[in-house]
Amino acid sequence: MKILVTGGTGYIGSHTVVELQQEGFEVVVVDALFNSRREVIDNIAKITGQKPEFEQFDLTDQAKTADFFQRHQDLVGVIHFAAHKAVNDSVQHPIKYYRNNLDSLMNLLDNMETFGVPNIVFSSSCTVYGQADQLPVSESAPIKKAESPYGNTKQIAEEIIADTVHVTPLHAIALRYFNPIGAHESGLIGELPNGVPDNLLPYITQTAYGIREQLKVFGNDYNTPDGTPIRDYIHVVDLAKAHVAAVKRMVGNQMKKPFEVFNLGTGNGYSVLEVIKAFEKATGLKVNYKIVGRREGDIEQIWADPTFSNEELGWKAVRNLDEMVASAWHWEQHYRNTL
Ligand code: UFG
Repeated sequence: MKILVTGGTGYIGSHTVVELQQEGFEVVVVDALFNSRREVIDNIAKITGQKPEFEQFDLTDQAKTADFFQRHQDLVGVIHFAAHKAVNDSVQHPIKYYRNNLDSLMNLLDNMETFGVPNIVFSSSCTVYGQADQLPVSESAPIKKAESPYGNTKQIAEEIIADTVHVTPLHAIALRYFNPIGAHESGLIGELPNGVPDNLLPYITQTAYGIREQLKVFGNDYNTPDGTPIRDYIHVVDLAKAHVAAVKRMVGNQMKKPFEVFNLGTGNGYSVLEVIKAFEKATGLKVNYKIVGRREGDIEQIWADPTFSNEELGWKAVRNLDEMVASAWHWEQHYRNTL
């Protein structure tokens, strides 16, 4: 069974391609390489022994997208990762985010309908919940006004999908990710941010490696036990495996309604300082950090209620925080040593 993975050379995409191949799916990757590298395809092949088919183009290009579907009429589904994802950048360049993230989705949905590709898994985010009133957050929690154009593209995309599914034979699953971190155990693929990282884990590993001088911890005056914000960090390999479970649910006709939404988290929340401590314990290194003021737009605390995903997808995140931070460090070292 052949799956199109858009953004398959990116962080979550590449890990998902590996898991799909290891479960016997054939994969074709489409990626514009805006924020990733072609070598990722070779590294996937080193892990799985199979080189996924790869085409480089921008999914906002209608003609190229239609031509792709014309040539790939044997697809059973699409996993759509390709998107811009930097929260701050989206505040500075809203049109870039709306155009890229939404045009690509609409081109995909249009062609899936035309060419009879029945299933799509969409990368959504826990950002749709904002600061939830009740923790842990289940899928039925209300959607809050988006904090950024990036977050808004995820909300609007879910609505576009819901409206499309309503009037077409398409089936869709939106997966709302909490905070994916870590890397494949091989050290061959992992998170590779462009420039200075926005996210916590790459900033920690780059500081430990000596690329960044000091990690800034954004605020310790939150209403949490140690004052730093709490997130539900999930190992990217666990996250990738949930995509395989979602695809199997679709192709196995097990969906209970044509558009389903699942939280992908562990159900455990950790503070920023707890993550730093776990990294130091797992690696034996000291992270040079200092507490600074809050970062605008950060929420105080969020973690998932993964009950519905666990029960319906038959999937559970099993890798703990120590494994997450150790694998992130393994990847950082492996990647830097190959430069
Ligand atoms: N943090 C620091 N210093 C840093 C980076 C992060 O203290 O240099 C803190 C943040 O303040 C936050 C925590 O680490 O408390 C996690 O921050 P990340 O940037 O790693 O993750 P976020 O929870 O802010 O963002 C993630 C995704 C976004 C998504 C958002 C939804 O990266 O794509 O969750 O809440 F929109």
